Amino acid sequence: MSFDHVKIFDTTLRDGEQAPGAAMTISEKLRIARQLARLNVDIIEAGFPVSSPAQFDAVQRIAHEVRGPVICALARTLPADIEAAGEALLGVVDGRIHTFIATSDIHLMAKFHSTRYGKTLADKRRTVLQMASEAVAHARSITPDVEFSAEDAGRTDPGYLIEVIDTAIDAGATTVNIPDTTGYCVPHEYAELFKLVRQRCANSHSVTLSTHCHDDLGLAVANSLAGVLAGARQVECTINGIGERAGNAALEEVVMALNVRRNNFGAQTGIQTRLLTPVSRLVSIATGFSVPPNKAIVGGNAFSHEAGIHQHGVLKSRETYEIMRAEEVGQRAESIRLGRHSGRHGLFSRLEGLGIAVAEEQREVLYRQFVALADKKKEVYDEDLKELARRATGRPSAERFRLDQMHVSAGTGRQPRAEVLVTHLASGTTRRESADGDGPVAAIYKAIDQATGSHHDLVNYAIRSVGEGADAMGEVTVLVGASGSFFRGVARSTDVLQASATSYIRALNQLEAFRTDEKHVEFVGDGIMQSFQGTPQEK
Ligand code: KIV
Ligand code: ZN
Repeated sequence: MSFDHVKIFDTTLRDGEQAPGAAMTISEKLRIARQLARLNVDIIEAGFPVSSPAQFDAVQRIAHEVRGPVICALARTLPADIEAAGEALLGVVDGRIHTFIATSDIHLMAKFHSTRYGKTLADKRRTVLQMASEAVAHARSITPDVEFSAEDAGRTDPGYLIEVIDTAIDAGATTVNIPDTTGYCVPHEYAELFKLVRQRCANSHSVTLSTHCHDDLGLAVANSLAGVLAGARQVECTINGIGERAGNAALEEVVMALNVRRNNFGAQTGIQTRLLTPVSRLVSIATGFSVPPNKAIVGGNAFSHEAGIHQHGVLKSRETYEIMRAEEVGQRAESIRLGRHSGRHGLFSRLEGLGIAVAEEQREVLYRQFVALADKKKEVYDEDLKELARRATGRPSAERFRLDQMHVSAGTGRQPRAEVLVTHLASGTTRRESADGDGPVAAIYKAIDQATGSHHDLVNYAIRSVGEGADAMGEVTVLVGASGSFFRGVARSTDVLQASATSYIRALNQLEAFRTDEKHVEFVGDGIMQSFQGTPQEK
């Protein structure tokens, strides 16, 4: 069976960044764009150049520094927008301009309210047709690769949508996107739009039809796949499904649905699926949006089995409860969730997966300790297991530094100052250090750096709230790097300064253990290691 190629148009850096609170720095965007290139997406929508100088710079730098995918810049159907997009892509061989205008009556009446767009709805519709045509032609005078989107196509009168699309194709659009901007459509309805366009737009076969679905009803992925079944050959999506409101179609879910069920779709993507989880983690760290454990494909529980009956089945034959391999999407294979429902089988195969050998005579003691711990805790994590096994087998600990005390003073009109007491566990010595910083966290980190004597870069700091209200916990994720290797520390506390300090010490412990004894190191994850190690590619 031969499969059509479905282009993956990643809009994490544009629509994804429109998610409230997801703003990223230019260097974070560049790092993500490089990983999207390794993931082998076909197109990266890098931003909306006219909207701000930072957006312009991000598109320009990504277009010039990231090789592989087509780099796309968004523009309204306004001459200034198209010019800005063209300028950001200047000198780039395969740049795309993506121009869009609203087409639904609801949008027309609200956004084109002014009579300069026409007095009646019919007048406004005519104006939109003209604006679309002029913008596409303008963009075509800059680049041969032009995408047109009929914003809110999902709620647009189908007859008018056909007219708009015919107009855009006549003006030179090479890709036509049919967005379900408000996430209103259900799959059969969305598929109908593609069928209609293919039947009624005379030249639809000469362009690539594209899906762009929002997740307001939780149907973004289902709608995108329905679009593919109805002839779409480009899917617009974001890593982890981030985006406006409830988000966009999740790239990893679309890709794996097409991959696992390719016979059903007769279509496939060129995505390097093993990088899906590392790239998901990278986006999560950059945006501070954590990935829910039950998230399909990339969630921490996506390949985990806790019930003894499931664990036994999976250990015998993975197909019993898994429809794809964890490794295929860059997850760890040994995801047997250990808790009070787990048995010896699960425990010892997990330890084996962690590379921890337990002698026969130590097994019973270890198992009893595990059961006692599992009774107290909801879940027994790898960290707990390593500690149990370390005690049972007498292996050395990866902990190199212990934060014994921390005092922070901060307030209006005074520079934040932190004092820490750190024990160096190998030598048993302690060091007390204090430092000033621009903020309390910067002061703590400076004091810890002095007390540990560690030299490294702070690559990322992300904080998010877990729970609600004033007593919600802050979860801090810190990424430190040295000589091309990266280590993460995560900690939660109701005191965000404490969580900041603990996560930092955890990351430094990993780094220090790596420097002194690689065996005890927990890398951020193979994929992430490789992701971060990838050298910048010049165009
Ligand atoms: O949701 C939408 O309609 C968009 C357009 C700009 C394509 O994001
Ligand atoms: Zn959108």
